[in-house]
Amino acid sequence: MNSEIKVSVAEHNFSMEHRPDADNRNVSEVAVETLIQRMTLREKIGQLNQINAGPHNAIAQISDDLRNGRIGSIINQVDVNIVNEMQRIAVEESRLGIPLLVGRDVIHGYKTVMPIPLGQAASWNPDIVREGAHWSAKEARKQGVNWTFAPMIDVSRDARWGRIAESFGEDPLLNSVMGVAMVEGFQGSDMSSKDSIAATAKHFAGYGASEGGRDYSTTNIPENELRNIYLRPFKAAAEAGVATFMVSFGDIDGVPATANSFLMQDVLRGEWDYQGFVVSDWDSIRQLTAHGLTENDKDAACAAAIAGVDMDMESRTFLYNLEALVNEDRVSEQSLDAKVANVLKLKFELGLFDNPYVNPDDFPEFGSDEALQTAKQAAVQSLVLLKNDNDILPLSPDALSKLSIIGPLADAAEDQLGTWIFDGDPNLSVSSLQAIKHLAEGQFDLHYDRAMPSTRSRDSSAFEGISEAAKGSDAVLLFLGEEAILSGEAHSRADINLPGAQADLVKAIRQTGKPVIAVIQAGRPLTLSNIIDEVDAILYAWHPGTMGGAAIADVLFGRKAPSGKLPVAFPKMVGQIPIHYNHKNTGRPATPDEIIHIDDIEIGAPQTSLGMTSFHLDAGYRPLFPFGFGLSYTQFSYSDLSMTSDKVRVGDTVSVSVTVKNEGDVAGTEVVQLYMRDIAASVTRPVRELKGFQRVHLEPGEAQIISFVIGEDEMAFYRRDMTLGVEPGRFHIWVGGSSEADLHAEFELTQE
Ligand code: GLC
Repeated sequence: MNSEIKVSVAEHNFSMEHRPDADNRNVSEVAVETLIQRMTLREKIGQLNQINAGPHNAIAQISDDLRNGRIGSIINQVDVNIVNEMQRIAVEESRLGIPLLVGRDVIHGYKTVMPIPLGQAASWNPDIVREGAHWSAKEARKQGVNWTFAPMIDVSRDARWGRIAESFGEDPLLNSVMGVAMVEGFQGSDMSSKDSIAATAKHFAGYGASEGGRDYSTTNIPENELRNIYLRPFKAAAEAGVATFMVSFGDIDGVPATANSFLMQDVLRGEWDYQGFVVSDWDSIRQLTAHGLTENDKDAACAAAIAGVDMDMESRTFLYNLEALVNEDRVSEQSLDAKVANVLKLKFELGLFDNPYVNPDDFPEFGSDEALQTAKQAAVQSLVLLKNDNDILPLSPDALSKLSIIGPLADAAEDQLGTWIFDGDPNLSVSSLQAIKHLAEGQFDLHYDRAMPSTRSRDSSAFEGISEAAKGSDAVLLFLGEEAILSGEAHSRADINLPGAQADLVKAIRQTGKPVIAVIQAGRPLTLSNIIDEVDAILYAWHPGTMGGAAIADVLFGRKAPSGKLPVAFPKMVGQIPIHYNHKNTGRPATPDEIIHIDDIEIGAPQTSLGMTSFHLDAGYRPLFPFGFGLSYTQFSYSDLSMTSDKVRVGDTVSVSVTVKNEGDVAGTEVVQLYMRDIAASVTRPVRELKGFQRVHLEPGEAQIISFVIGEDEMAFYRRDMTLGVEPGRFHIWVGGSSEADLHAEFELTQE
């Protein structure tokens, strides 16, 4: 090790205590500046370069670049011994000894897997999301990971899009609250703690609006919609101190996010004063040429650097081109210094200069009881009861002598983990079949038939026999849905029915005449219109993670009550997409008495005789299940909606209260939701917007008064001039258990 020129941590006191110096800058800022002054141009460029270092052992290929300070971060290497060796080379064999950021997609768990984020959103419980991220950080850090590329907070309204699985659904507020909770869970209160990893707000921005629901597709989002819908969760994450942002692959109104200075300079740095750093998405800098924005890699690197990308993920366009771009005065070295400072600051905040190496023994074992308990709690709270005719659920073991369990996802230890689980351990999984077998012991008999080799199988030849066999049971549990590979990145579907011959299986099982309960696992809302009348109950489980089976069994048998609410609408058919609750009213809003069904049109009807409002002849205008919907094993009533005033001055607040009562004979948890509409404004506003929600547990017969406060934050929106603020006028509010709540009140916002 060449110590006489090595910049030692001790020499510059690179430790983390933030003692202000003469210019009131804290030590790490001084340390960063001191370090940058010592760096050559090539070493600076090295800090802006993230390369794929796994899963193979890439030490042989990258050790020279590590020694020459040409790599600032590695991604996808999760063998802790290899990570430590790569880190050792960077720290002890390079001139300046700058440690590496070690990145990995820890999207909804590491070895212990939580429900997919769309499922976590269905809990409407930020606490469990935070807890899940906290355990994911502990497990990831044990293998050397110190940076994750999550939360994904792209507002997603298109169930065809595979990546809706990674989002928190269609609403800006729910994405904001859950995204912030995940950031807090990953980063904790001190990122230098060994329980913390740096988080990433992604994909900035508007990725969820990909045209046609195809991944990586074009997005055209008017600025007012971009600000009022898609940017809100990112603003919340920035305000919550998320360590990094990742730009989207997408072309936004003709300028791909990776080179979009409006997003990265005007909004992120200018309006939000964001102090973290921006990483590209995988190879997204090079893809600027495919988009048709640039002619070649060098121009792409230039465009991305000038627009505001700090670190290049795995395209090497920064590594190979920035030196020439600086020498040609197309990119200033000063601008590179700012990028390097953003990266080094995070390395200090993570404590990597003081503790670059990881001792796995300092961490709990993977799959600890606490981690599994958190995963189970998250899974229970993610389950949404969509249908429960005649209260067929919960099942009572005493009333069963034989239960049939049928379907390709009853015993799916891997598939129940969902998408983006590079490191998930299926050996930790508890499948539904396993959990129900355990519960049935000594109580009732089980008959299990997988029925299909995969969810995509079109072979229905065994169905008749399976149906016959099921006739000997008291009830049938059908485990249906999508394999995990059918959702996630690049896995969009144009037809979102149950894949394969599953609908035929449902119809065959219907022939048994027995109660049929469908448990559906999927990474998106599926169109269920073709089976909804063939089953007595539907429990929607998303991909529920490691403990999904145990959670499903507990809810099916009433040990736990379902409390999940939909974070995204379920269309009747794919042709309705986009269909979301917070839509605009249009000039001709549809109403129940104005629409007509295609089958009811009289022959030879005159041309102008139908509806003349905004709906589909063959689907109407409402989804099959709306945002915020979910049943319980009990019933909740809402009454006594009151406001502290029906006139509110700008700058004041108004309180809204409602009484919620458990009218049933079992305990339950309700998600009380507050929606609001700004009746007239300088730009048209959605017919409803979620402005608050609270989970409340109520014993049978128990009632509670739930209150919300409405202030400027709730009423403010980006107006026609794109400024954020309120406008006096009338507001309607609704409170209830879904976005179709009908308990209603009004108030007026006045200027004085
Ligand atoms: C992928 C994804 C991004 C992920 C990154 C690293 O292409 O778009 O979400 O974090 O590459 O795997």
